Amino acid sequence: MAIDNRQPTSICLINQKGGCGKSSTCFHLAGAFAAMGHRVLLVDADPQGSISQAFFGSDAVEQMPAWETLAALFDDRCNHIDPYSLIRQTHVDGIYVLPANQHLATYNAPCPEQGGVMQFALRDFLEPLTSFGVVLFDCPPNLYQCSWNAMIAAKFVLIPIPPEDFGTQGIRAVHQAVANARVLNPSLRRLGHLITRSDRRMLVHRAYESRLRDLYGELVLHTTIPELSAFKVALACRQPVQMHAAKSAAAERTRELVDEIVARIQNRKLQKEAA
Ligand SMILES: Nc1ncnc2c1ncn2[C@@H]1O[C@H](COP(=O)(O)OP(=O)(O)O)[C@@H](O)[C@H]1O
Ligand SMILES: [Mg+2]
Repeated sequence: MAIDNRQPTSICLINQKGGCGKSSTCFHLAGAFAAMGHRVLLVDADPQGSISQAFFGSDAVEQMPAWETLAALFDDRCNHIDPYSLIRQTHVDGIYVLPANQHLATYNAPCPEQGGVMQFALRDFLEPLTSFGVVLFDCPPNLYQCSWNAMIAAKFVLIPIPPEDFGTQGIRAVHQAVANARVLNPSLRRLGHLITRSDRRMLVHRAYESRLRDLYGELVLHTTIPELSAFKVALACRQPVQMHAAKSAAAERTRELVDEIVARIQNRKLQKEAA
């Protein structure tokens, strides 16, 4: 199913906490979108380089010079570099990666609004790249320059939340950051909160989920991502679960997530809703 034939669908996964499944969801979502025939670009906007390592291995990623990674977009000395040369094809059909590693950390400064033209580095880089149907941004566990750049460049924000630490304070900070980013990127919309790493056998997870749904209503995606070893095993084999175990519950749930994301994007009401 085409989402929009004219422009790539770009989604950034944001949460200021680590370990909530941003990178894992990005990785497996990319597989599900690619299996549907979309050409997917994964933008690794995290100096931890999780997405890059998932595809290329940690040694290779650590050794990448800054000018072969996303860090080049922030470095004036790299102006002469052909932006297309930064994008790497992966071993998975239909998935491409703009890699990152430790070199990006220098540029991931707090107070991103003071970043001047740097705030638009990702947006300007991605604008001419119309051959991708889907662009997914994996962000670091903070709301600094890299997450800010992703929100300025993307059309949608997906907020993964594990159903444990209630942390509404943290959620409010994410919503505030989205609202701030909309000043520079008025078309940015919240796709919603995605409950990740959920184990419904645990009372605390069920209670958290229902509280979250009471608080945020339709802003919480109906689909949840369960804690399943199939996600980890596939990642260890450097394959999105859709490619590694297409019939698994993990792959099925990821396809359901894609369907819900596509339905939400196509819902014109959502597109008109102010974030
Ligand atoms: N749904 C899941 N089921 C099982 N393991 C998961 C799931 N989501 C994330 N993980 C694992 O939890 C750890 C942290 O997830 P990660 O995606 O790296 O979080 P983040 O990017 O938000 O810091 C990783 O080892 C990842 O493989
Ligand atoms: Mg991560």
